[in-house]
Amino acid sequence: MSESTLPKSTLQQRIENHIETLSHFTATPGKGTTRLTYSEQDRQAREYIKQVMQEYGLQVREDGFGNIFGRLEGSIPDAPAVLIGSHFDSVPNGGSYDGPAGVVAGLEVAKLFQENGLTPKYPLEAVAMIEEEGGRFIGGLLGSRSMLGVISAEEFAAITDKDGVTTIEAMQKIGLDPSLPGKRDASSIRAFLELHIEQGPILEEEQIPIGIVEGIVGLTQVQITVKGKAGHAGTTPMDRRSDALVAASKIVAGLPELAQAQGGGSVATVGRLNVFPNGANVIPDQVIFTADLRAEHEEDVQGILEKTEQFAYSFATDNIDVQIERQLYIRPKQMSEQVKNLLRGISDQLDIPYRSLHSGAGHDAMIFSDFTDVGMLFIPSRAGLSHCPEEWSDSADMERAVRVLYEAAKRLTEVE
Ligand code: GLV
Ligand code: MN
Ligand code: MN
Repeated sequence: MSESTLPKSTLQQRIENHIETLSHFTATPGKGTTRLTYSEQDRQAREYIKQVMQEYGLQVREDGFGNIFGRLEGSIPDAPAVLIGSHFDSVPNGGSYDGPAGVVAGLEVAKLFQENGLTPKYPLEAVAMIEEEGGRFIGGLLGSRSMLGVISAEEFAAITDKDGVTTIEAMQKIGLDPSLPGKRDASSIRAFLELHIEQGPILEEEQIPIGIVEGIVGLTQVQITVKGKAGHAGTTPMDRRSDALVAASKIVAGLPELAQAQGGGSVATVGRLNVFPNGANVIPDQVIFTADLRAEHEEDVQGILEKTEQFAYSFATDNIDVQIERQLYIRPKQMSEQVKNLLRGISDQLDIPYRSLHSGAGHDAMIFSDFTDVGMLFIPSRAGLSHCPEEWSDSADMERAVRVLYEAAKRLTEVE
């Protein structure tokens, strides 16, 4: 897919500018976007997002977790709001679109309301959430889980990053106030809409600009700790070693086969692995790694989880200890029938081709779906790539999706 040569509308240009500007807030310039939650780059991106919200005439608010809201008040007092947005953190060395595409969509839908002088009956809120990726604090989806009370304020405060820094300390370091109101009553939310890049090849291959998401995979993450005994790399005979990394490697290497045996599109990934003490000439005494396990149907999520645990424990011996901690478990989720129908009807009206898709990636929408009506749109990803610097989507596709979401937001907020 290549960029269109048609003249760009002002909306498309604004979209490109936001994506481009946000892409500069990275800890790894030239090597993709690395924007970990509560980092200096988070602070810079949030300043930009808040500034745009202000320029667009929205009331700007941050909550006690650092989620950002830009609100356009509705005419019904205290009515529940329609939220549109996504996350603004990134994976290490990720792309410029995973998360920001949805944040920018929220901002631009609000801008279209303002430009067209619309007064909604129900408030509209553009939302930018923290830590969807779990790049800094284990688990992910932390902004939505905290906001909706899936984890308590106490649990949130107890979470630390790999260096032992707590969420609260990290927030304070960039000037955020954890004592601000945090948990939001679900009755204050009328619906949640999220635009996201597909992160897969289907829309591009079929040349369809919009995917209407049916459901999102179930996902679980476990942390596996393997303990052995440290020793000298040169002087410890091979038959006297308790090498934690050798045992951990066997577990890691066995997971793909387990996922394939489970079937149902199950996938297993070890993406984070820390070796201790991590010295070239020291036998590792501890390895801590995560296994991310996903499947479309809950019985497969359960199946792959149980098989992974049994398999990992099977490497425990008198000298090797294996411990497993379940850190995240989210059932597969379905999007709201009513919102899907709305999105289909609007796409038909606007003459924009679409197809249904299932999401293999996790999204904040899956947390919202337990509390409110949720709809998600996907746009094509070039070469299906995501979570890497090459991630790219066409701003013309983003513009189309923003126009669909704008119409959906008009209906859901019941503009006058
Ligand atoms: C987020 O991108 C996830 O699917 O983990
Ligand atoms: Mn992601
Ligand atoms: Mn994402």
